[in-house]
Amino acid sequence: MRHLLSPLDFSVEEVDHMLRLASDISENPDKYSHVCDGKKLATLFYEPSTRTRLSFEAAMLNLGGKTLGFQSAQSSSASKGESVADTIRVISCYADIAAMRHPKEGAPAVAASFSNIPVINAGDGGHNHPTQTFTDLLTIKKLKGRLDNMTIGLCGDLKFGRTVHSLVNAMKRYKNVKFIFISPVELKIPQYLREELTNENYDFVETNTLEDVMPELDILYMTRVQQERFFNEADYIRLKDSFILTESKLALAKDDCYVLHPLPRVNEISVEIDNDPRAAYFKQVQNGVYVRMALIMILLGLDKEFPID
Ligand code: CP
Repeated sequence: MRHLLSPLDFSVEEVDHMLRLASDISENPDKYSHVCDGKKLATLFYEPSTRTRLSFEAAMLNLGGKTLGFQSAQSSSASKGESVADTIRVISCYADIAAMRHPKEGAPAVAASFSNIPVINAGDGGHNHPTQTFTDLLTIKKLKGRLDNMTIGLCGDLKFGRTVHSLVNAMKRYKNVKFIFISPVELKIPQYLREELTNENYDFVETNTLEDVMPELDILYMTRVQQERFFNEADYIRLKDSFILTESKLALAKDDCYVLHPLPRVNEISVEIDNDPRAAYFKQVQNGVYVRMALIMILLGLDKEFPID
């Protein structure tokens, strides 16, 4: 049995297989509409979500399966003190696979160690968000035709943004990828990530000016300042609008520099950009369903019945 806790749990070859399967699903959805007949996905969400939870549910429904779950810690027996370990043992009796979001880093890993079914990390605190990363990779691959030879700017809350941490870990495995980290000083990438990139000789730059680096970028990955991870409301208010992508800033970018955002958006991308052909964040949302369909198939061992090579 296999879990997904970090994007690095899958090798580059396995990620490539997943992305090819997701692309085939997007082109031939009917072929996959009964793959999970009789199977159940449990969504265990201890934190709010729109995209991740509903795209997991849509993915399982599209595959012919069924879903069950809870949307908040408050509506589950966690509110009565039940541990993650006990909850997953119980859910293992009800479902074939589970997706878990939790505010504490490592909670899905704890669940996996007690589980009899595959556990997918659907976001743990400020740590990882691997299914968002696979969604981002599929989107970049479809738009640019490659995942290597790329300069990617990551802008906003790079300290608490788990999508950033996961995406950097995933992208650094491809050749000639340069990272430009754009953030206020207080929201720079965590020290452990900086040390990893430095020790492994990756090409990266840290700056607090978006305009200066715009012309270099092949991908601009905008992120929201993560209000829920701040200890101090005043700091959040001071930092929340540090970077707002406007038409005038996007005018500095290449014609094929695509703008991604894991969403939800607050103020960091002006809505005037939504109709620009380079705005790719709603394409990302659609790709999230295909990637999660592919992932469910792989973790349940059902992909072998659908060779795509
Ligand atoms: N991208 C993402 O994780 O969105 P949700 O918080 O709505 O699931």
